[in-house]
Amino acid sequence: MDLRDASLKLLLANRRKTNGYQYTVPSPSTYPYQWLWDSCFHIIVLAKLDPDAAIAEVKALLARQFDDGMIPHMIFWNPLLFRPYNIGWGKKGTSSITQPPMLAYASWEIYRKTNNVEFLRETFEGTYAFYRYIIEKRDPRDNHIVSIINPDESGEDNSPRFDKPMGLKDDISFFGHMYERQKLMGANRTCNFDVELCTRDHFWVKDVPFNAILLKNLEILGHIASLLGETEAEHFATLHHDLIKTAMRHYMFRDGVFWSVSGRDHEILEVATWAHFAPMFANLYTKEEAEYVMRTHFHNEETFKSEFGIRTVSKQEPSYRPTGFWRGPIWFAPHWFIYHGLRSYGYNKEAAWIAGVSGELVEKNGFREYFNPETGKAHGATNFTWGTLVLDMIEDA
Ligand code: GLC
Repeated sequence: MDLRDASLKLLLANRRKTNGYQYTVPSPSTYPYQWLWDSCFHIIVLAKLDPDAAIAEVKALLARQFDDGMIPHMIFWNPLLFRPYNIGWGKKGTSSITQPPMLAYASWEIYRKTNNVEFLRETFEGTYAFYRYIIEKRDPRDNHIVSIINPDESGEDNSPRFDKPMGLKDDISFFGHMYERQKLMGANRTCNFDVELCTRDHFWVKDVPFNAILLKNLEILGHIASLLGETEAEHFATLHHDLIKTAMRHYMFRDGVFWSVSGRDHEILEVATWAHFAPMFANLYTKEEAEYVMRTHFHNEETFKSEFGIRTVSKQEPSYRPTGFWRGPIWFAPHWFIYHGLRSYGYNKEAAWIAGVSGELVEKNGFREYFNPETGKAHGATNFTWGTLVLDMIEDA
């Protein structure tokens, strides 16, 4: 298979145009709308293959930004295609929650490939407003790490990291979990999706990948602001980058790794997931700490490493299910974050391995949603657009 060709074909097939806006659906049959972090992944690949389409996709995301700066995790461009997902309905035909803030990174990729400063300038107001929202509204008690109010905001809908704050058991089924998230969405609705109010009585998690992704994006927002001469924004990005970095270490670091935390008291959620690796994407570990994480977790076949890639949940966790959606399978977005983290620490051999096994999974199964780490068998949505992230890894490796 020519991966570049196949990626472009899929991105074109999954492209939609509605009301003058252009975007890419994650999967025509399973996910026929626009999703926030999916679009950022698509933009990263489109930046290489079709930069004009990448720019259009950023503009489509910003077109449905809320007045307070939030970008919703789903935009239902075509309401006729409605399917009963567990989302809170926004005012503009969108959901009312968000997803990991990858927008600055994705926009910077467009700039890196095109040198198009005008695009950065045109989209800056919206981009900056999004990060201001995340910092100002998602940290209601000023702890300098940001919160999610529903597991869906992490992008890892049924990850066992959230079992305890959801009050769920290890063996909760996929649909049982969906039902519980729907119930939580109902509760989120009663507090009007206001993070300060919702976190008084309901789910309140400060998630490691979400905060690590935010950190990396603040670093990049700083580059964008500096390039555009936006000094106040540059100061904002640098200041909050440093505050969050320090707070993550303070609240989340224990036994050599970072853990997500819950509630006012920052209770550690002791479930070993790929969240241990996510901080490498934001250079949070020192060199020595990274060495420990690699030795103890990355290379450990009893926990994370399988023949086909890195499990999203350690095999030792009682909640581990090799085909359980976010309860163990291999997914390409975590692979991509881990890949870039490994590269930034100089683990080039390991990074090349991740790129290689990801490429083999696509070669064998096409662009699928997730994979059983024990057998390599593909599951979930077909023609899944994130799969094209594999091209970004392979061409970089
Ligand atoms: C699933 C995934 C989520 C993704 C969405 C669309 O809900 O868990 O991360 O954004 O599908 O692909």
